Amino acid sequence: MSKINAAITGVHGYVPDYVLTNDELATLVDTNDEWIVSRTGIKERRILKGEGQGTSVMAIEAVKGLLQKTETDPLDVDLVICATVTPDHVFPATANLVAAGAGMDNAFNFDLGAACSGFIYALTTGAMYIQSGMYKKVIVIGADKMSSIVDYTDRTTCIIFGDGAGAVMLEPTSEEVGVIDSIHKSDGKGAEFLNMKAGGSKYPTSEATIQKREHFAYQDGKTVFKFAVTNMADYAEKIMKRNKLTSDDIAYLVPHQANKRIVDATSRRMGVDDSKVMMNIERYGNTTSGTIPLLLWDYEKQLKKGDNLVIAAFGGGFTWGAIYLKWAYNPK
Ligand code: UT7
Repeated sequence: MSKINAAITGVHGYVPDYVLTNDELATLVDTNDEWIVSRTGIKERRILKGEGQGTSVMAIEAVKGLLQKTETDPLDVDLVICATVTPDHVFPATANLVAAGAGMDNAFNFDLGAACSGFIYALTTGAMYIQSGMYKKVIVIGADKMSSIVDYTDRTTCIIFGDGAGAVMLEPTSEEVGVIDSIHKSDGKGAEFLNMKAGGSKYPTSEATIQKREHFAYQDGKTVFKFAVTNMADYAEKIMKRNKLTSDDIAYLVPHQANKRIVDATSRRMGVDDSKVMMNIERYGNTTSGTIPLLLWDYEKQLKKGDNLVIAAFGGGFTWGAIYLKWAYNPK
């Protein structure tokens, strides 16, 4: 029996309309456009506004576009995995709400939380269900409404994050394309440096947790930066070596968009030219689980069948890893 590969057969994204510029942030906290651009590469980010608007709203839009583009009957979708750290609710899973919202009534759905590495963890997980022969159509979503957990009085975090969602369709193929290799890592010792302390079972919501502002994302930026630079570069290099890829073989590096300086360090280590690095941090900031599918969506028209992509991410947990993906289709 020939090996089944898991190919990405479509990608779509959604970002909300509201543009939060660096200049607007400078009216909220002591910062300025020059500092933000030079330290992070971010010029603006999108924010989902409106009462009762959760992450699922963006994910449903991304998935509806994906179903249309891939001409998929929603009832044929077997599995929906939603990577997010900002689910609509603690439960039910956002993936359940997305499946219901997009008419995928036959799918089995679950959320997966690995912060900024959520999408790559979910992509590997989804690929396994295809490679095993168990499922034929798997949708993997990365979606976060970071504005719901960002403290807009904290200049060290509020400048970084934005809202957005992206989704890919995975389908089986006997061709040598799709998810070829993955390496993932986690280290719980990193928990103290990047987290949202309250609202879970350890520190349930109380007046005290609210007063202490513990329902917002906290990050020790310098420490996270150091680990992100080392680990993203190490794992991108590791997956290249393991698959005997040289920088010439790589069509694009697809890096999690946390900070342009982290991305630059990763591409330097890989020996990959800037022209081969997917970037959209200047427009969307760090959308956590959303960055990688949003990049694939932005660059879809430039990708050709057989292109070698190295995806790399690092995030809270700590979590990190890299995927070697061979693009499966030409621009339509
Ligand atoms: O995606 C998941 C993982 N997350 C990341 O990978 C993020 C990793 N960390 C970072 O991207 C960076 O550490 C930050 C962007 C968060 C901060 O950049 P930095 O170059 O590490 O700045 P810093 O924290 O070392 O601060 C340098 C200075 C400080 O002032 P002093 O102490 O030198 O007087 C800060 O108070 O910049 C100050 N500062 C700011 N100034 C203007 C910090 N934030 C701001 C700001 N505007 N927004």
